[in-house]
Amino acid sequence: MCGIVGYVGKQKAAPLIIEGLKRLEYRGYDSAGVAVLQDGRFAVAKKTGRVANLEGETAKHRLHGTHGIGHTRWATHGGVTDANAHPHVSSDGKIALIHNGVIENYAHIKKFLLGKGYTFSSETDTEVLCNLIAYHYAKEPAAANGDSRFVESVRKTLRHAEGTYGIVIMALDLPGELVTARKGSPLILGLGDGETLVASDVSAIVSRTQNVVYLKDGEIAHLTPTTCAITTLSSGTVQTVVDKVTWSIADSELGAHAHFMEKEIFEQPTALENAMRGRFAEDGSTARFGGLNITPGEFRTVDRFMFCACGTALHACMVTEHLIERFARIPVECDYASEFRYRNAPLFRNSLFFVMSQSGETIDTLAALREAKRKGYKVLAINNVVGSTIAREADGGIYQHVGPEVGVASTKAFTSQLLIGAMLALYIGRMRDLSFSEGTEIVNALKGTPDLVRQALAQAPHIKAIAKRFAKVTDMLFLGRMSLFPIALEGALKLKEISYIHAEGYPAAEMKHGPIALISEECPSVFFAPNNELFNKVVSSMQEIKARKGPIIAIITEDAELPAGLADEVIRIPRCHEAVLPIVASIPVQLLSYYIAVERGCDVDKPRNLAKSVTVE
Ligand code: F6R
Repeated sequence: MCGIVGYVGKQKAAPLIIEGLKRLEYRGYDSAGVAVLQDGRFAVAKKTGRVANLEGETAKHRLHGTHGIGHTRWATHGGVTDANAHPHVSSDGKIALIHNGVIENYAHIKKFLLGKGYTFSSETDTEVLCNLIAYHYAKEPAAANGDSRFVESVRKTLRHAEGTYGIVIMALDLPGELVTARKGSPLILGLGDGETLVASDVSAIVSRTQNVVYLKDGEIAHLTPTTCAITTLSSGTVQTVVDKVTWSIADSELGAHAHFMEKEIFEQPTALENAMRGRFAEDGSTARFGGLNITPGEFRTVDRFMFCACGTALHACMVTEHLIERFARIPVECDYASEFRYRNAPLFRNSLFFVMSQSGETIDTLAALREAKRKGYKVLAINNVVGSTIAREADGGIYQHVGPEVGVASTKAFTSQLLIGAMLALYIGRMRDLSFSEGTEIVNALKGTPDLVRQALAQAPHIKAIAKRFAKVTDMLFLGRMSLFPIALEGALKLKEISYIHAEGYPAAEMKHGPIALISEECPSVFFAPNNELFNKVVSSMQEIKARKGPIIAIITEDAELPAGLADEVIRIPRCHEAVLPIVASIPVQLLSYYIAVERGCDVDKPRNLAKSVTVE
C-alpha cells in the first residue's frame, strides 16, 4: 500500500520519480505527489487520482532539481484530497517527507506538537512524523555519536512512532541528502552511477541500476549521490550488503497487452516452466528444493503442517492442504494469517509452518510468521519477490520465480503457488508412502502442466463470448468440490475484485444449505465438473440449480459428457492428473473474470479500493 520513490543524483529528479511512481501505481492510486528541492525551497506538486494527473500538474511547477521524493497513495487516515496527498512539508517548512504505513499513536504525537506550536494542514497520520522530525532537527546539535544531525532527528522521531512506516525525508538545508527508514513497509535502495534511489519495490529502480540493498526493519539509511550509510534505530552500524536484481525492465512492461492482468494470464505457461526448472530429482520420482534449510530427517518428524496466508495465496494453501493430505497422509491446517496472529491457536509440538505470499510483504502474513517463530516453530516461506521481508525472516523456503506480478489481481503467482504446493506434496509424500512409480507419474504430470495451461488458454475467444453474455449480472456463484473448492473461492474473488460483481465460492454440495436461495434467472453458477469420482454428484447439484432456472456455466474436462441442455455454456479443459487439475481449472475463471471486467469497462489493473501488497493491518 502506497508506493514511494526518492532520488538524489545528477539528473532532473521529477521525471525519474514520476516514471518510478508509474511502476508503483499498483500499490495505491488515490493520489500522487512529488517534492523537489530546488532554488532553496521545496517545490511540491500533488494531485488526487492517478500518476498521469500528477504529470500534468508537475509541468506547471518547473521542477528542475536533482533531489526529490514522490508518493502514490492508498488512503488510510484522511480522505482522498490534494491536501492529504504526500509529500508533506513540516509547518516550519524545513522537512519534506513521504510515508507508506500507519502511525498508530499519531493523535498523541499531534497533541504534543500542537503544544510546541507546530500546525497541520492535512488529516493524515503522516504529518506528525514530518513535524516531529522538524522539531528534533531544530533542537539537535551536531550529534555526539558522529551521526549527522539529520539522521539523529529521524532516529529520535521513530523511537516515539508506533505502527508501520517506510519513509523518505529531505531537509531544506541539506541538498543532496536523503534519509530513509523502515519498519513493516518495504524499502529498497538502488546504488547507481553517481546517483542513489530508494523505492518500495525494485521495479521503480531497475531502469537506473541493478545494484540494490534491501533495507531491514529498524534500519535507517543516509543517502547521497555516491554514499549509503546504514545504521539502526539504536545507533548500531550495519554492514551494507549489495544484491544484484535479476529482473529486467521489460519484465514489468505491458508490451502488446491491454492490461497487466491479461499479460500475466497468458504468461502462465512460461511462468510455470520457470517455477519448476531444476526442481525435480534426477531419478524423476520426486521434487527437490534448494532453500528449505530442513533435512529429510526433520521433515519425517513433522506430524502436522500449518499454512498461513491471505486472499489468493490462502486459496493456494487450501489446495496444497488437499494434496499433502492425499499424497503424504499428514494433517494440514490452513488459516487466515490475519486471524492466526491473534487467535492464540493451540499448536502441535511437531508442527511445521509455511507462509505463502507473492509479495512477501503482506503485514498479516508477516505477523503470522513472527508469531509462529516466537512460539519456537520453524517457518518456511513460499514467496515470489526475492529479498522480501518474509523471505528474509523465514527459516527457509521456496521462491516462485515467476518474475514481477504487476496486475493487482493475482494470476501467474497463484498458479505457481499451486504448482509449488503440488511439488511440495509430492516431496513430502515420497518421504512417506508414495511409491517410486506413483512419484514418477506425478512428476510427469507436473512437467506437462505448461502445455495443458496453453490448451486451456486457447479457449480464450470462447470464454470472451461467454463473458459478453453474462457481463451485466449482479451476482454469481462458483461451485467446486475437493481441490476445486478453493478454485471456486478464487474464481469468486477474482470476479468481485476486478468487476465489482458480487460473487461467492462454495463447495458444490454445500450450495443447497443456503446459497441456493440466491438462485434465479439473474444469478448464474459456474460449476467445476471434472470427470472424476464425484462427477455425478456435481451433475446432481447442477440439476438442482437448473430446476430453479439458474443459468449454468460448466467447466468440464474434455472427457466428460453432461446431460443435454443442462449447462447454458460449457468450457472444456484438458483431462489431467489431480495434482495439476486445480492449475488448469484456474485458467477459465481467470479469463472469465478478466473479460467480464473489460466488458463492464472496469479498470482491470487498478481495481477500486485495492492495492497489490497490503502492508497495513
Ligand atoms: C487477489 C490478491 C490478494 C493477495 C493477498 C495476499 O487477487 O492478489 O488476495 O493474494 O493480498 O498477497 P500476497 O500473496 O502478496 O501476500
